[in-house]
Amino acid sequence: MRVFVAGASGAIGRRLVPRLVARGHEVIATTRSRDKLEQLRALGAEPALLDGLNALAVAEAVVRAEPAVVVHQMTALADMSGLRNFDRGFARTNELRTRGTDNLLAAAKAAGVRGFVIQSYTGWPNIREGGPIKTEQDPLDPRPPKAQSETLAAIRYLEQAVLDAPVEGIVLRYGSFYGPGASDPLVELVRRRKLPIVGSGAGVWSWIHVDDAAAATVAAVERGSPGIYNIVDDDPARVAEWLPYLAEAIGAKPPRKVPVWLGRLAAGEAGVSMMTRIRGSSNAKAKRDLEWEPAWRSWRQGFRQLASTGAGDQPAFGRAQAA
Ligand SMILES: NC(=O)c1ccc[n+]([C@@H]2O[C@H](COP(=O)([O-])OP(=O)(O)OC[C@H]3O[C@@H](n4cnc5c(N)ncnc54)[C@H](OP(=O)(O)O)[C@@H]3O)[C@@H](O)[C@H]2O)c1
Repeated sequence: MRVFVAGASGAIGRRLVPRLVARGHEVIATTRSRDKLEQLRALGAEPALLDGLNALAVAEAVVRAEPAVVVHQMTALADMSGLRNFDRGFARTNELRTRGTDNLLAAAKAAGVRGFVIQSYTGWPNIREGGPIKTEQDPLDPRPPKAQSETLAAIRYLEQAVLDAPVEGIVLRYGSFYGPGASDPLVELVRRRKLPIVGSGAGVWSWIHVDDAAAATVAAVERGSPGIYNIVDDDPARVAEWLPYLAEAIGAKPPRKVPVWLGRLAAGEAGVSMMTRIRGSSNAKAKRDLEWEPAWRSWRQGFRQLASTGAGDQPAFGRAQAA
């Protein structure tokens, strides 16, 4: 089928496009940058220039492409630095999640598109009460740290907009990415001992190898029913567990430990929350309903691979992926 991938040149898009092409789909892949057009063509796609915030251009591009499915992978996180001013760092991404989503949905409607798959996020948006692992049915955090409130509002907005639209809308809540092109800044922070364990380190994180996120996206495009899916690995883990493990795996010294008051000074309330209070996510629904399995079932193997290949290119374990 014809698949329009908006934001095809990013961490997920670059891994998704070749998988779609390998499955026989015709892929229209967008970027804002002329320099990246050839790279997208080399991945097997028809490249297209597009600014997702230009409603008219989006409408024209989608109508011209006549896709069966639109995939929204537009974020603006490449220059993100630190967690302290969280909403400020996510401001452009939040625009892409609100205005950018509206533009693509309006275009999809005008073009008579059947399916719409959108990138969302799971982890810190989960309610921070009760058990350590949340499903898609658990509420999002009704009282997020102030610094994350605009970003959570944008996530709520995009999810509702897609579920309410006259398309088969699928929301993929990816966990935290790692893998090729997806975790270099994190690895660098850990290598330089700039990412300490704050307080108890009891915040629970759900990771996903970027290739598993891409495989889940192919499954959603091909056979997903409308709804929300957590796309995470099988092994939600506390910061106090995964951070020293990552340091050891990449040959760095163990992370420093700092008290909460010092963590708050450096990373603000949002940073402290992510280190001490957030909940992880279950992938049971995606496994069951998308017939998808992460090849990298745990970040434990994935992080080791980051060290040995530099980027975690080859899954050396796990069942074959469904897509
Ligand atoms: N779940 C997660 O943990 C998660 C999710 C997303 C990203 N990240 C991380 O964030 C870092 C940066 O992500 P990234 O490499 O994907 O880069 P990014 O800067 O977030 O860009 C993602 C995609 O959005 C496109 N884009 C940005 N602004 C746009 C606009 N106004 N109109 C149309 N398209 C637009 C980019 O295209 P052009 O710039 O080519 O136009 C690119 O294709 C990576 O480390 C990644 O792992 C993590």
